[in-house]
Amino acid sequence: MDLSAFRRRSSPSASPDRSSAHGFLPAPPRRFRLGAMGLNRILASALLVLPLIATISVLYPRGGEQRPSDRLVGFAEARVLEGRALDGNATPLVSDDTDSSSPPVDLPKNYLLGGLLASEFDEQSCLSRFQSAIYRKISPHKPSSYLISRLREYEKLHKRCGPYTHSYNETLAKINSGKAIGSTDCKYVVWISFSGLGNRILTLASAFLYALLTNRVLLVDRGKDMVHLFCEPFPDKSWLLPTDFPLVNQLQRFDQNSPKCHGNMLKNNIINTSTDALPAYLYLHLAHDYGDHDKLFFCDEEQTVLAKVPWLVLKTDNYFVPSLFLMPSFDEELSKLFPDKETVFHHLGRYLFHPTNRVWGLITRYYQAYLAKADEKIGIQVRVFDVGKGPFPYIMDQILACTLKEKLLPEVDEKGSINSPPENQKLKAVLMTSLNSGYSEKLRNMYWEYPTVNGDLVGVYQPSHEEYQQTEKQLHNQKAWAEMYLLGMSDVLVTSSWSTFGYVAQGLGGLKPWILYKPENRTAPDPPCRRAMSMEPCFHAPPFYDCKAKTGIDTGALVRYVRHCEDMSWGLKVVSGRDEL
Ligand SMILES: *[C@@H]1O[C@H](CO)[C@@H](O)[C@H](O)[C@H]1NC(C)=O
Ligand SMILES: *[C@@H]1O[C@H](CO)[C@@H](O)[C@H](O)[C@H]1NC(C)=O
Ligand SMILES: *[C@@H]1O[C@H](CO)[C@@H](O)[C@H](O)[C@H]1NC(C)=O
Repeated sequence: MDLSAFRRRSSPSASPDRSSAHGFLPAPPRRFRLGAMGLNRILASALLVLPLIATISVLYPRGGEQRPSDRLVGFAEARVLEGRALDGNATPLVSDDTDSSSPPVDLPKNYLLGGLLASEFDEQSCLSRFQSAIYRKISPHKPSSYLISRLREYEKLHKRCGPYTHSYNETLAKINSGKAIGSTDCKYVVWISFSGLGNRILTLASAFLYALLTNRVLLVDRGKDMVHLFCEPFPDKSWLLPTDFPLVNQLQRFDQNSPKCHGNMLKNNIINTSTDALPAYLYLHLAHDYGDHDKLFFCDEEQTVLAKVPWLVLKTDNYFVPSLFLMPSFDEELSKLFPDKETVFHHLGRYLFHPTNRVWGLITRYYQAYLAKADEKIGIQVRVFDVGKGPFPYIMDQILACTLKEKLLPEVDEKGSINSPPENQKLKAVLMTSLNSGYSEKLRNMYWEYPTVNGDLVGVYQPSHEEYQQTEKQLHNQKAWAEMYLLGMSDVLVTSSWSTFGYVAQGLGGLKPWILYKPENRTAPDPPCRRAMSMEPCFHAPPFYDCKAKTGIDTGALVRYVRHCEDMSWGLKVVSGRDEL
């Protein structure tokens, strides 16, 4: 479709605006460029439906979830249109900008996500930061003004203490000297890249929250692919650990028995709460196999010791946030940061994790090609932990039992009596992610072979099926990241038990998923699934220790906002506290 004709005809008013570069008129709104291909497609459909929408918007007043425009073009396009066609303060849809390959588009009004994101960024270097608001629905969960102010403070701290600043250089010198003598201007948490991508996203958010709570600066080990997956989240200074950091070659080798391991030093009574001569760095082993002494990290008493150590190097494969909520020293601050407690990962995830342009291309092309036109998007994330070659019939039975029973998908009429499509026929898009392609093939066939009882049409799409999890391969992880993000753009989400992949999707999407119970003994569980209590991820390996009484305790029964997880009876998750106990 040749857009240039439209451009000339439809935007006479754009010319004076555009030619005001020499300063008569107020500066035009901030603009950015959507990837040329993606935008052309959005614009093409936008132009086609524009007159239609204008008509409909007269018939149906605005507001309400079921705006016809949303259903017609999918919310991505609707959002692009919103700034112009539907709002009073319309600016031209397209301009006569000489560069026709990538027409500028106004930033969506909420592109800073209600103040969550800092504004001082270069747009081209990370398109997703600016465009996510076009594709995602506006979150009903607003970040607290306190969280916003603490993030801005953090950004200032990061700028002052980030790599190669005067303070960084000075604090680095302590590592070489060995001792943590005197207080330092800046203190750090170094996050070690460890485990699968879903876990890494959860642990990085946990480490950032810990940094925020303890006024430390977060620095990120690049691992093999971190730079290919995520944009820089903080303005001005990188969050990446410099490659000449003195411990950089030891990071992957740190373990429970390392001499500078906090738990190990406690165990061997090398340090204790009255030790003054603390080392310049400590290694915190918080991975699932951590020992009792490592777990003392979650005791306030130990935090006062750790506060004196300038460098904390952290390795974990777990979302440890729930246990921070059980620590009296952090509890009050956490309540101020997150008045709605179950929004921790939702906000921090949207703040920290912006897909690189390469990954953003994977996300937006897939979205536009398969999902944008649907009235409803259903994400189904399948992760099977049973050994053997799938697809397993009991898993398929479980997926069907859950989605049909919960009325997430329509039943099919196996007698095949084809009715004429009803008036309000809906198009549903199922986005399925799995290492195996068998489940989506079966579902797709079912909806091809039989009509649905209500006449709805169901399309089933699966971006990739890699057969086994490849932890550190670059394109594999870029696709995995794209899939998590796409799942988070669903209206309704179904996830598998124990899967961090699903946790990331639900948190970014602000969705309480239906969780497929873990099958036991290779049979579909009954009931097949349940609705999650909150959108927070589950901490799979929490400590069960009462720091004051120095005895074991059920940490899932202490406060109403930290509970055992739906999908793992010994795990802990944060819930809003408003839900039934
Ligand atoms: C910090 O050290 C690096 C070399 O290690 C140097 O290039 C940089 O200029 C130093 N920064 C400051 C602010 O002195
Ligand atoms: C604390 O550690 C020091 C060595 O750093 C040791 O001399 C002292 O006995 C320890 N105190 C306790 C109460 O264990
Ligand atoms: C597992 O399933 C088999 C039949 O498939 C049954 O004989 C066995 O008792 C079951 N085991 C348990 C622990 O439920």
